Amino acid sequence: MTAPTSARSVTVRAPAKINLVLGVGPVRDDGYHPLDTVYQAISLYDDITVSTAAGWSVGVEPIGDVDVSEVPLDETNIVVRAGVLLTEHHGIARRASIGISKGIPVAGGMAGGSADAAATLVALDRLWDLRTSDEDLLAIAAELGSDVPFALLGGTAHGTGRGELVESVGDAGTWWWVVVPNATGMSTPAVYAAFDDHGGGGSDSAAVLAALAGTDLDALTAGVRNDLQSVALELRADLRLTESDLVGAGARAALLSGSGPTFLGLVEDQDSAHEVREALLDAGHPGVLVATGPVAGAHVVQYA
Ligand code: C5P
Repeated sequence: MTAPTSARSVTVRAPAKINLVLGVGPVRDDGYHPLDTVYQAISLYDDITVSTAAGWSVGVEPIGDVDVSEVPLDETNIVVRAGVLLTEHHGIARRASIGISKGIPVAGGMAGGSADAAATLVALDRLWDLRTSDEDLLAIAAELGSDVPFALLGGTAHGTGRGELVESVGDAGTWWWVVVPNATGMSTPAVYAAFDDHGGGGSDSAAVLAALAGTDLDALTAGVRNDLQSVALELRADLRLTESDLVGAGARAALLSGSGPTFLGLVEDQDSAHEVREALLDAGHPGVLVATGPVAGAHVVQYA
């Protein structure tokens, strides 16, 4: 008698991203905004586990305190769109069940959904031995969302276009971040729409790229900038307190992550990261995390 074939699964880990600089230009005809950004992958992760199934399905479980109540469990989840696009690309009719272990705050401006999409592409490619080229994976990723290609790449990268054109940049630093999530998520399109009414923007990445090239924390502190920060603070006055609490606790800079509401404190080293985290927790900000970057993009952590 032969033993039943055990179900195979592949687990891929993908990181959260932050934008060290987010320079935003005037809205394009297609509704997107031209970006001049520097992405960094940091040590908060989602793990995606896929196995072949008769139909698409999605499950989610939190890592730590992450609130997963808003994660869709149907085909509107970006992981299913990723699976469908990959199967269409290869002209195959396979389906999978997709499990998400979520350590990246949801709707926080840290591209957790994009990380899940990137991890799903890599996991299904490996599960089914599709051998999709890097170029094709990046193109499918760009179709799924502006910051999905970066989640494949990881590290530190210069992003242009609507954010989907990514080029790795040298970054020999180990940078420490205090991550302050917020229970009330923000809608990225709403923040960009408010930016259109508000005007401004146009920051460029030159100072941050030079700071990274020189591994210069003072220059990085002076260079970090997010063109969506002032408009996000107008939409959400409560975030001003997060910003001032970070600075009051000794962070060198307080930076909005992407379109928010997560705030990032840039700090000197691991010890200061933990001191600033404690101070933020004492000030009543729940779920504050410490993270370091750069870290790797989507990569396999388990074949089972
Ligand atoms: O590309 P993605 O689906 O992640 O974008 C979500 C929304 O964010 C877009 O529909 C658009 O409103 C806004 N966006 C933008 N400019 C960008 C990226 C995103 O206006 N460069």
